[in-house]
Amino acid sequence: MEWWLILIIVLSVFLGIALLLLLLRWYMRGSNYTKDTKIDNKVVIITGANTGIGKENAIDFAKRGGKVYIACRDLKRGEDALGEIRRISGSNNVHFLQLDLASMDSIREFSRKFHELESQLHILINNAGVMACDKAYTKDGFEMQLGTNHLGHFLLTHLLLDLLKASAPSRIVAVSSEGHRMGNINKTDLMSEKSYSKWGAYGQSKLANILFARELGKKLEGTGVVVNSLHPGVVKTELGRHMSANFQRFFMKPFSFLYKTPWEGAQTQICVALDPDLENVTGKYFSDCKEKTPSSNARNDETAKWLYDKSIELVKL
Ligand SMILES: *[C@@H]1O[C@H](CO)[C@@H](O)[C@H](O)[C@H]1NC(C)=O
Ligand SMILES: *[C@@H]1O[C@H](CO)[C@@H](O)[C@H](O)[C@H]1NC(C)=O
Repeated sequence: MEWWLILIIVLSVFLGIALLLLLLRWYMRGSNYTKDTKIDNKVVIITGANTGIGKENAIDFAKRGGKVYIACRDLKRGEDALGEIRRISGSNNVHFLQLDLASMDSIREFSRKFHELESQLHILINNAGVMACDKAYTKDGFEMQLGTNHLGHFLLTHLLLDLLKASAPSRIVAVSSEGHRMGNINKTDLMSEKSYSKWGAYGQSKLANILFARELGKKLEGTGVVVNSLHPGVVKTELGRHMSANFQRFFMKPFSFLYKTPWEGAQTQICVALDPDLENVTGKYFSDCKEKTPSSNARNDETAKWLYDKSIELVKL
């Protein structure tokens, strides 16, 4: 074969691969919230906003005029993030309140302080989460992932419901994940005491987020408070800190160009929290700013009700 023919074939193959990767990257990036929605004088809480998509979400809401409370566990990291969010957004109307979702005492204390400061709450973003950590239990004896991702937010949401109702129309946003498809609600071993798997427990906790939004959405019908859940996309954030070094090296690093940036990852929760078209939509699941059908487990109304009643009992409401 002629040398130039080989060169052309080789070049075409490389170009083809590059184009495919570009298309894949473009597909993974998802869609952005492009509307110019203002939230002047609206009060917002975002949990876990010291890093990743929570922080991007906080910057966005601050730029739109909202009064933004970031809630996170670590005092130092919270205060550092507060400075950064204020600087980047150019708004000083951003505040930090400490909150450890793995402790019911901390959640109650947070709510007490918040009620002292504010008589309104328009948007609650339940964003904080732990992913695939080793077996551990919260102060109150809940399995760490279910305890933090679901039960902590479950209690927090209920303690703030009076303010959300008083500020209606208002919205609750539960940041779940496509990882919910790996999970099922194990009614006989909810706390994974008999057998624990990192990803199984993560899946269960993310499934619980969707079921909670579904059940609470129903319960709040007619109050002007809507509740929805979502998948932010595959985002490279600190969630990965519980992953082993090898998992990060072989599965996360080589594909990191495909992940959404935290800014891209924040777009779906910004959309679900703000889009005027969604003001009456409740109990639904979103991905890439569009409604999406979650797993069949996540559409089981009987499980949703069981989990809701069980959670009320567990957090002693
Ligand atoms: C629930 O957990 C128990 C104890 O680990 C296990 O035997 C059972 O198979 C689990 N059920 C489901 C549906 O996963
Ligand atoms: C939401 O419901 C209210 C009251 O029924 C209605 O006035 C409004 O147009 C609805 N909004 C949308 C976006 O459908």
